[in-house]
Amino acid sequence: MIITETRTVFWEDGQVCLIDQRKLPETFEIARCSTHFEVAEAIQSMVVRGAPAIGIAAAFGMAQAALHSAATDRQALYADLMAAAEVLRKARPTAANLSWAVAQMLRYAERSEHQDVTALKQGLLAHAQRMADDDVRINKQIGAHGAALVPEVATIIHHCNTGSLATVFWGTALGVIRSAHMQGKRLHVLVDETRPRLQGAKLTSWELLQLGIPHTIIADGASGYFMRRRRVDLCLVGADRIAANGDVANKIGTYNLAIVAREHNVPFYVAAPWSTVDMSLAHGDLIEIEERSADEVTMINGVRIAPDGACAANPAFDVTPHHYISGIITEYGVLRPPYTVSLAQLAARIQEGKV
Ligand code: MRU
Repeated sequence: MIITETRTVFWEDGQVCLIDQRKLPETFEIARCSTHFEVAEAIQSMVVRGAPAIGIAAAFGMAQAALHSAATDRQALYADLMAAAEVLRKARPTAANLSWAVAQMLRYAERSEHQDVTALKQGLLAHAQRMADDDVRINKQIGAHGAALVPEVATIIHHCNTGSLATVFWGTALGVIRSAHMQGKRLHVLVDETRPRLQGAKLTSWELLQLGIPHTIIADGASGYFMRRRRVDLCLVGADRIAANGDVANKIGTYNLAIVAREHNVPFYVAAPWSTVDMSLAHGDLIEIEERSADEVTMINGVRIAPDGACAANPAFDVTPHHYISGIITEYGVLRPPYTVSLAQLAARIQEGKV
């Protein structure tokens, strides 16, 4: 089973290797990037997608830029890294993990004790590798904290893809579902298809099938129908950026789901690593929302479905206000409202090295 053993992002023979998510579920293929420019292009074109996965891809891209640099002193190497950071950061704007990962690599270069440039380059590669390993560990911690919220028998609505494919391995919200399933809980997942890129229908379903987790794909607009007609125990989604007040940017359609969940008293949980939290933004309206090509809406798998001449808008994310969110599941535990307090307290404990 591919998804139980393969990492989504890994380093091999000087190349950044990525499961090519544009080709799933039909074809399983590894895309290989030889330069950080190719990594940026792979992020932009969604060969790799999902906030944590694009962060780690960018970290390896930074290592690649260092290894390819002709710099012979630390200062020149740092200048080359700054230029690479600019290219990678621009690839996609909304996911906090991308700029976080690039900043981590720059910080390592700045603070490393390696005076020798060759050693520093190797140190940067080792640091990216550590970040990839950390991502797996963190996801499993999120899974353990989140699984405690899932009843023994549960129907869960999930939006987009937040599984192994959206991370290095395991997943965030889908990782919670995976962990709960492994504890023997009897789950049924209602999988939002997630127009326009269909991450739910194509990727989440592909992962759940391999994990043997019962599920049903539903149209995004069907969640209200299901909440009225049958018992839904909780909604579980991921996040691309979380503001200091707990507002959450996530895949377009998340906000609608949260409103419907509130109407039906269904708990609505967000699962994300701390690297998705952006304490510099006071609220979610300050989050930059990526606008993608209208073709993603007017076409499906390269075939136009809208009339010629019709216009379309394609915001890739929306912001769910904090008051719709029952809890934010992180590797440090489950945060509860008021998030201005719980996020600030956790940020302080992390800063002081107390967690
Ligand atoms: O545009 P994508 O596919 O990169 O968006 C990713 C998401 O929005 C996911 O919903 C996810 O929650 C964030 S990554 C675990």
